[in-house]
Amino acid sequence: MKMSEGPLSPSGERPFGIYVHVPFCSVRCGYCDFNTYTADELGEGATRASYADTVIAEIEQAREAAGERRVDTVFFGGGTPTQLPADDLVRILRAIDDQFGLAPGAEVSTEANPDSVDPQSLATLHAGGFNRISFGVQSAVPHVLATLDRTHDPAGVPQAVRWAREAGFEQLSVDLIYGTPGESLDDWRTSLEQAIALEPNHVSAYALIVEDGTAFARKVRRGEVQMPDEDETADKYMLADDLLAAAGLGWYELSNWARDDAAQCRHNVLYWNSDDWWGAGPGAHSHLAGERWWNVKHPAAYAQRLAAGEPPRHDGESIDADTAHVERVMLQTRLRTGHPVTDLAETALAKLPELARRGMVIVRDEHVVLTLDGRLLADAVVRELVP
Ligand SMILES: C[S@@+](CC[C@H](N)C(=O)[O-])C[C@H]1O[C@@H](n2cnc3c(N)ncnc32)[C@H](O)[C@@H]1O
Ligand code: SF4
Repeated sequence: MKMSEGPLSPSGERPFGIYVHVPFCSVRCGYCDFNTYTADELGEGATRASYADTVIAEIEQAREAAGERRVDTVFFGGGTPTQLPADDLVRILRAIDDQFGLAPGAEVSTEANPDSVDPQSLATLHAGGFNRISFGVQSAVPHVLATLDRTHDPAGVPQAVRWAREAGFEQLSVDLIYGTPGESLDDWRTSLEQAIALEPNHVSAYALIVEDGTAFARKVRRGEVQMPDEDETADKYMLADDLLAAAGLGWYELSNWARDDAAQCRHNVLYWNSDDWWGAGPGAHSHLAGERWWNVKHPAAYAQRLAAGEPPRHDGESIDADTAHVERVMLQTRLRTGHPVTDLAETALAKLPELARRGMVIVRDEHVVLTLDGRLLADAVVRELVP
């Protein structure tokens, strides 16, 4: 193993993950540009009813192409995976287990919107092998949720979490967004406090990004809503870090906090360590054996390929050593464990003393690690470290 790589899986091999994209949502949130479709947008040629069989056909192709690999992590993301019947999600998971085999103790996560689950669906998922759930809570404040076009009533979130616990989910994460126009620091404090009251063992908190081409970006451009300035965003990040740390959730990646090492999202850690994964579903990206590729984007085109027995791959590229190095620096520097100093280029090494003098980084156990000030300016610091 090279110094720059992450830990080995319990089986002693490089970790291997499978991502399953589920491209369906009941309503499109104005800020989101993920590859997802409401019933109206989906058009001809792809249905929710046939989706599980289509993905299973890709999993069968994946086994042929990737060969024998035990699966350490599975992540169902979207879109809204829980828009599909729980039985369909379990069927896809079984196909992964049949084709590849899940490693003992494999992490199996699904994302879920709080208003897309009920006690039965959660019980089916847990009994079928899912052991981690990540709820898209975003905010506890109604006017913020309205600006984000979220459909759920915040009062229903504790109930969804309780149902998940009753179904047996111990690994439970909450996704939050900060920096929505109109959100005050107190609104954000309310969201954090209510998230903490749910006693999750993992929290993700991302600053709202204005994605080109979204309805939200058009509102920003027309001046109908105003994005917060950098200072306000930094204040919100620091408040999150303070309150989460006080509640026993420590940062392990810039935007992710966990109760302990076992509560980290192993699937995301696998991405951040540039390990191998297969992404199944329309538009999904894969990263395997020094290559990356991505599938055709539209669910109808995706279904057509698989119905014809063809790979759904749209395009790809091999990752040369320089590109792999830049990606490792960019991703691992965002981790609390940092990036090995021995993997830095000469130019980056030369910048380390100045970055340390400015209080942006420290060197710990031969790894360059961001300080809190460094985390607030992470993009700029990481740019200094890539050749
Ligand atoms: C794409 S969603 C899929 C899961 C689920 N549908 C949900 O919304 O929670 C995953 C996460 O990405 C976040 N996300 C999507 N667009 C974003 C944006 N423009 N800025 C920040 N976070 C975003 C969502 O809010 C959500 O927490
Ligand atoms: S529910 Fe999630 S995936 Fe769907 S549009 Fe909203 S943020 Fe995007």
